[in-house]
Amino acid sequence: MTDLPTALSLREVGPRDGLQNEDPVSTEAKIELIDRLSGTGVSRIEAVSFVHPRAIPQMADAAEVADRMTRASGVRYSALVPNLKGAERALDAGFSEIEVVVSASDTHNKKNLNRGTAESLDDIAAIIDLAHGRGATVQVIVSTAWGCPYEGEVPTERVLWVAGTAAAHGADSLSYGDTTGMATPTRVTRLIGETRSAHPDKPLNLHFHNTRGTGLANVLAALQLGVTDFDASVGGLGGCPYAPGASGNIATEELVHMVEDMGIDTGVDLEALLETAAYAERAVGRTLPSQVLRAGPRTRLARA
Ligand code: COA
Ligand code: ZN
Repeated sequence: MTDLPTALSLREVGPRDGLQNEDPVSTEAKIELIDRLSGTGVSRIEAVSFVHPRAIPQMADAAEVADRMTRASGVRYSALVPNLKGAERALDAGFSEIEVVVSASDTHNKKNLNRGTAESLDDIAAIIDLAHGRGATVQVIVSTAWGCPYEGEVPTERVLWVAGTAAAHGADSLSYGDTTGMATPTRVTRLIGETRSAHPDKPLNLHFHNTRGTGLANVLAALQLGVTDFDASVGGLGGCPYAPGASGNIATEELVHMVEDMGIDTGVDLEALLETAAYAERAVGRTLPSQVLRAGPRTRLARA
């Protein structure tokens, strides 16, 4: 454990990845969630996605949310897009950081984006050109990187081909998404090792879902390899509408709680984050899966 990083960078994805899979909440509640999150010390927030409103009605008001949310200083806001049209909408809404998603497995990509992986990769080349021309950065998120709910195993070579093509198109950074929680620590270690060999200088974000309870174990495996950039969602909000049985992302407060106790700085105020998670529960009207939200941090004592 001696060579763990001393700090990591979190991207809060609850307002997008989380809320897209909940019953729709009001525009006001989305804005309030984002604004509360920006007061917790989180330095990056994935605020919305610009997708077809028929595909994800929960994000139909993305432009209005982007327009009315407070852009707090010190916080970087990003938007996820599925195609060129989405990228145009995101740039028009003032985002200078875009994430474009593509699945390593063809079947998931077809369900999610109505086209094959290769076709999405062609679109990504055009998105990167457009975004760079307008002074924005692009992260390519490779979904189903550790397995596909429809195809099962996704060969590592296939993931590396998608990542490599994105890098060749000029992606500023890469992300691997464990869309349905199929990763385990040894698989994380293997894929990161192979990715580092192929693309030693490309910044890499990891996006884990806790579907099968391995989320934080996967984070630890990645920390041991020096990865310092993770997605998480407040309260554990979320899932994937095109992946049956997918549950939420790893909960931001569980991640913060664990790594801060290990001496890894996140910049996040855990108490403020827990209050925001409680707000998220009220906003979506259901109990969220975060265990730290239920139990409180380890420093919170029970009455003797
Ligand atoms: N936002 C809004 N409208 C869009 C759009 C976008 N990002 N992309 C395409 N459209 C519109 C087109 O303008 C066109 O409109 P028209 O019929 O009025 O001309 C129509 O949608 C069809 O365009 P097409 O390119 O054929 O899209 P499609 O029907 O094949 O759908 C996606 C493709 C990618 C837009 C759709 O599958 C989608 O939004 N998927 C996102 C799924 C998602 O968010 N998953 C979770 C996050 S990973
Ligand atoms: Zn996700």
